Amino acid sequence: MTQLSQKKILVAVSGGIAAYKAAQLVRDLQRAGATVRVAMTEGATRFVAPLTFQALTGNPVATQILDPSEEHEIGHIELARWPDLIVVAPATANVLAKAAVGLADDLVTTTLLASEAPVLFCPAMNTQMLRHPATQQNIAALRARERTFLVEPDAGELACGEVGAGRLPDPPVIVDAAAAVLSPALLAGRHVLVSAGPTREHFDPARFISNPSSGRMGYAIAAAAKALGADVTLVSGPVSLEPPTGVECVPVVSAADMQREVNARSSDIVVMAAAVADWTPTTTAEHKRKKGGGDWSPELQRTPDIIAGLAASPKRPVLVIGFAAETEHVVEYAREKMKRKGLDGIVANDVGGTDTAFGNATNAVTLLAPGQDDVVLPRAPKRAIADRICGWLTTLQGSNGNS
Ligand code: C5P
Repeated sequence: MTQLSQKKILVAVSGGIAAYKAAQLVRDLQRAGATVRVAMTEGATRFVAPLTFQALTGNPVATQILDPSEEHEIGHIELARWPDLIVVAPATANVLAKAAVGLADDLVTTTLLASEAPVLFCPAMNTQMLRHPATQQNIAALRARERTFLVEPDAGELACGEVGAGRLPDPPVIVDAAAAVLSPALLAGRHVLVSAGPTREHFDPARFISNPSSGRMGYAIAAAAKALGADVTLVSGPVSLEPPTGVECVPVVSAADMQREVNARSSDIVVMAAAVADWTPTTTAEHKRKKGGGDWSPELQRTPDIIAGLAASPKRPVLVIGFAAETEHVVEYAREKMKRKGLDGIVANDVGGTDTAFGNATNAVTLLAPGQDDVVLPRAPKRAIADRICGWLTTLQGSNGNS
């Protein structure tokens, strides 16, 4: 994945037990394409040796201000000018407090003050310290500051034995947040509605027709659109995923629910990644149906075609994008579907074979749009595919003229 390719990131490590996770964070940022340097507070060096980061980055680790040998390698002002982004991970209560008031009494805080780069703070500390009004005030002050971003701490078991909020989020979450800070806001001011997951069509309260969609592709598209600055609404069938941060999530069950919620919202771009059930029972029993009486053939009727209805409606969004899950003649069938449903683009998805897109963490797709060359995206993690899909969206011309 090259979300962060060509980006220079300074990871500033402060002195909390979560400092050990910063080593994995450095690796993950490098894997995402970034060049990484590390600065540490005095406290951080007691948890992890600077040598660890030096070995990972291939660069000396800055720990001291005005140390003749370090200033010789890269001076603190040069260090402040070097990065495209500073990630403070973990950010202790102490570092947050100093940064909030502009105190500069060590290398990390001096670099923060001397730098014009955006800063992503990743707070991690004991729950009580996090809850303290002083820390909350400092967090609020930093949030309100220009070019300053925060990753919410996770809840769970903390190193001090307590359970609560204050854990450093896992490195991939921080990498995504860093990518979001550095992404150009190509979808700023746009409202993007994404549908995801399966629908459930109930025969009775205990039984339904559904499909194996995990919702991962749609959730990844919602996160990618959010990272490009869009206002995102996710209309989601039943899945076991957390909605991406900052995305409005509207949970639904059936195709009829999904249609109602999609049609109730006006948006500039709609991406229907949901695997909507094609049939629904003609009637739904109020109580669980008894098995007595042997075989049973339920009567089914077609569900409403949500995307075709939207593409033909007077309130048509500027871009209406569908998905086509096929097991043979994938691109050909997808192109026919795009025309028949009146879409501005379609993502052709091969769901046959063992590498099926359903429930998988990766996907391989072809992007089709009228009058445009097909874009073949080889197998990659769904978030990487989602980033490419969202980039492609910004190049499309909607049927009502503009994109
Ligand atoms: O017709 P088919 O189900 O293959 O079309 C797939 C596309 O149409 C997907 O974008 C899916 O979300 C959408 N769809 C829909 N309403 C349905 C069935 C599919 O919006 N009832």
